[in-house]
Amino acid sequence: MNIPPEPYKIKMIESISLLSAPERRARLVDAGYNTFLLRSPDVYIDLLTDSGTNAMTDTQWAALMRGDEAYAGSRSYEALEAAIQQTYGYKFVVPTHQGRGAENLLSKSLIKPGDHVPGNMYFTTTRLHQELAGGIFDDVICDEAHNPSIEAPFKGNVDLKKLEALVKSVGASKIAYISVGAPVNMAGGQPVSLENLTAVSDYCRSKGIKVVLDAARAVENAWLIQEREKAWRSYSVAEILKEMCSRTDACTMSAKKDANVNIGGFLATNDAALFESARNLCVVYEGLHTYGGLAGRDLEAMAVGIREMVQDDFVGHRIMQVRALGEALESFGVPIVKPIGGHGVFIDAKAFLPHLTQDELPAQALAAWIYGECGVRTMERGIVSAGRGEDGHEHRPKLELVRLALPRRVYTASHLEFVAEGIGRLYKRRDSLPGLKYTYEPKLLRFFQSRFEPLPVPVATKR
Ligand code: F0G
Repeated sequence: MNIPPEPYKIKMIESISLLSAPERRARLVDAGYNTFLLRSPDVYIDLLTDSGTNAMTDTQWAALMRGDEAYAGSRSYEALEAAIQQTYGYKFVVPTHQGRGAENLLSKSLIKPGDHVPGNMYFTTTRLHQELAGGIFDDVICDEAHNPSIEAPFKGNVDLKKLEALVKSVGASKIAYISVGAPVNMAGGQPVSLENLTAVSDYCRSKGIKVVLDAARAVENAWLIQEREKAWRSYSVAEILKEMCSRTDACTMSAKKDANVNIGGFLATNDAALFESARNLCVVYEGLHTYGGLAGRDLEAMAVGIREMVQDDFVGHRIMQVRALGEALESFGVPIVKPIGGHGVFIDAKAFLPHLTQDELPAQALAAWIYGECGVRTMERGIVSAGRGEDGHEHRPKLELVRLALPRRVYTASHLEFVAEGIGRLYKRRDSLPGLKYTYEPKLLRFFQSRFEPLPVPVATKR
């Protein structure tokens, strides 16, 4: 595999083991064929998510001991505030227990019922908080994002024409803010260019519309800008991140991604009125505004993680590892979203299982069959994740994807080879793989807790 040597060495390990094939089949039945319902000890290689599953550095572990657990005015809050101010460049900071906590504070602060909230594709929790606050989500991502095989460098970009058309039809005063995810998780980790972010920012500022960055993996976006956007090639990841944030009014952050902690998040902004509102709501939903639902030690580990996350070699190694996994899968013919994104490889389940209709849940089924084949846990990102609208209709996304997200600094090249070989074997017998149907569907964020059973095995077996 074409991965640069790790810019770190291993200090502690956790044992993992592979269950036998009959055991894995039994565990799938117990979990209702939903990978979210598998028990972690039954998983060999866990690529469900890169969220909160990262390995911290020795300096982060040391920082835990410095946690100031005072209820009010904790010194650890000051450490976090300074790290965010210096790394992202925002003035005001409200800590939250994780990203969706910040999304809740933001949505409640800025959205009035009936307001529109454009975004470059949706993220599950982000859109749900917007809708729960009475907002209407409008997708303004460029068309290329919906096509898994187009090799464009910035498939996360906002289509300014779509944004302008929306503003024209509903009026700028009915737009709560625009939410820009950089990179776009649900599109396969596709980045946004600084050129596009600048154009969006200029347009929105001319109309008095706030720009809010979903910064969960903004560091990876910054690295991809350095790689692909000529004007920024000689800038560091740290410098590019600050440039990105300067185009926006606020960010919501899940520190469980870029910042390499197991729990934590924040809302940061330059807007005094938003800060005032979010800080006040924080005491209702999260905890006092200087701890936001976290322990002092969590704030310390997050502060160190934020300062360390912008090191170019760390980010570069991570992205090259993801890319190597994608290339290995491609060598077995497995169809994946191109270009390969920053945090994971996304298998195109529609192309992998073309004999299944969207209602036969191809991505959900593929995630289940991958676990059955090799004990690797992945995540559905298709119609099950897209959920239902307020009136009960199914959101029907164009993409049916299975995500293999790589935790940071956790797995080695040989783990990744094992994953690619297992999925490669499954691909060879893809015609025999059935779809799934629901046996239980909860109301909110159904992908987490739904249960399924297999449909009959397809009869035509060509391979
Ligand atoms: N925004 C993006 C782009 C995310 O990917 C996530 C979480 C959130 C917001 C919410 O943050 O989990 O800390 O509340 N994504 C995880 C994932 C769950 O697996 O992609 P959170």
